[in-house]
Amino acid sequence: GSSGKFFVGGNWKCNGTTASISKLVSDLNEAKVEADVDVVVAPPFVYIDQVKKTLTDRVEISSQNSWVGKGGAFTGEIRVGKGGAFTGEISVEQLKDVGCTWVILGHSERRHVIGEDDQFIGKKAAYALTENLKVIACIGEKLEEREAGKTFDVCFQQLKAYADNVPSWDNIVVAYEPVWAIGTGKVATPEQAQEVHVAIRDWLKKNVSAEVASKTRIIYGGSVNGGNCAELAKKEDIDGFLVGGASLKNPTQQTLQPKS
Ligand code: G3P
Repeated sequence: GSSGKFFVGGNWKCNGTTASISKLVSDLNEAKVEADVDVVVAPPFVYIDQVKKTLTDRVEISSQNSWVGKGGAFTGEIRVGKGGAFTGEISVEQLKDVGCTWVILGHSERRHVIGEDDQFIGKKAAYALTENLKVIACIGEKLEEREAGKTFDVCFQQLKAYADNVPSWDNIVVAYEPVWAIGTGKVATPEQAQEVHVAIRDWLKKNVSAEVASKTRIIYGGSVNGGNCAELAKKEDIDGFLVGGASLKNPTQQTLQPKS
């Protein structure tokens, strides 16, 4: 496993209202968190300011995406920019201004629903890191890719796009989120997750450096909840979690009712 702290991230995705987020924040403020765990929540953009103003400093804030700057008429070329005339996008500078210290990039929903490609995601990661926003770099295969025996190929190709672009791996957490496990209730078995995490660490060792491989936290995401997290966490190379649906529930209730 990595030498870093255990990492628990809550990705709220496109969920919540002012009222429900206010409740979630007060639950988080009351939750007991062990000292050696990094806790991060990722609210929708429009609620980041509310969360920053009400959430304990013990928990860091991530955005779920950020802008890179992509020129429309530059086929095959991605231009990095600080924002400006990009209607509907949010810049790294704005995210830091409202209190984010992290950004989730390359989430499967952005890859497969919105259509972001590996290079675009790699450029976003590079830009965020250069501007001192830490990156939760997501990767993961679809079900048909797993069934075709392409899990490692897909993960390595997505990793390579980060590696080809980022200036350093100091502030990156890799999130392995198999697409078939996201929001489906079909969590990867601890063995399935461990197998891919080992492969990711090995890839980092061969293609980046032994130091980066040993320091980088590799977290798992996909139907993680209070009932299955303990077994997954026992695995050597599972250094934390990125949680979707279960992160919208009261953290106290989840510990008490692991099967809910
Ligand atoms: O980013 C977290 C995520 O994609 C997992 O979602 O709902 O399966 O925990 P969920």
